[in-house]
Amino acid sequence: MLKIVVCVSGGGTNLQAIIDGIAQGSVFHTEIVRVICNNPGAGALERAKTAGIEGVCVSPKDYGDRDAFEAALVRAVEEADPDLVVLAGFLVKVPVELIRKYENRIINIHPSLIPSFCGTGYYGLRVHEAALARGVKITGATVHFVDEGMDTGPIIMQKAVEVHDDDTPKTLQKRVMEEAEWVILPWCINLIAAGQVKIENGRVSVTE
Ligand code: GRF
Repeated sequence: MLKIVVCVSGGGTNLQAIIDGIAQGSVFHTEIVRVICNNPGAGALERAKTAGIEGVCVSPKDYGDRDAFEAALVRAVEEADPDLVVLAGFLVKVPVELIRKYENRIINIHPSLIPSFCGTGYYGLRVHEAALARGVKITGATVHFVDEGMDTGPIIMQKAVEVHDDDTPKTLQKRVMEEAEWVILPWCINLIAAGQVKIENGRVSVTE
């Protein structure tokens, strides 16, 4: 059984896709042992509660300084003793200590085809605003391992989504979430649970 901690900040639709995948049997041998959120009002915490999953809020506002917050975040993950940490709409820079302790065991979903429209400042709707401003005809989503950079870790899977001429950032975000994010994030977790994801010299391969 792959024990996963899911880190969230917002509405939690990617978390919900994982919950639903486990419930429907399309995500095998996986258990969400804890949801960790940096935002007390996030809808994702409600989703966790409804699903009977322990939700823990670690908010920067509750700590005197950044170091204390980061230490609390590391503790919240380690207490759950996961095999894999999944960042699903998590808007906090992961502490280096956690990245080193969980090397190649933290994955993130990013709403573009990395290396396009990623890195510092590219999150949520801003990603789609940039894609529309550049006029790309294809965008999509990427699941990657988290390293000490921002959206720079080894890519596990990507899924392309067409950009429509009449798209707004909101309509594009919705289609990327529905057609790409909610598909490849659960699928990557499934592959990792099955031991089919290998990483060598910074490159990922998926075995049959
Ligand atoms: C989505 O755009 C996702 O791609 C990004 O965070 C946003 C909110 O995701 N990582 P969620 O609904 O909280 O899963």
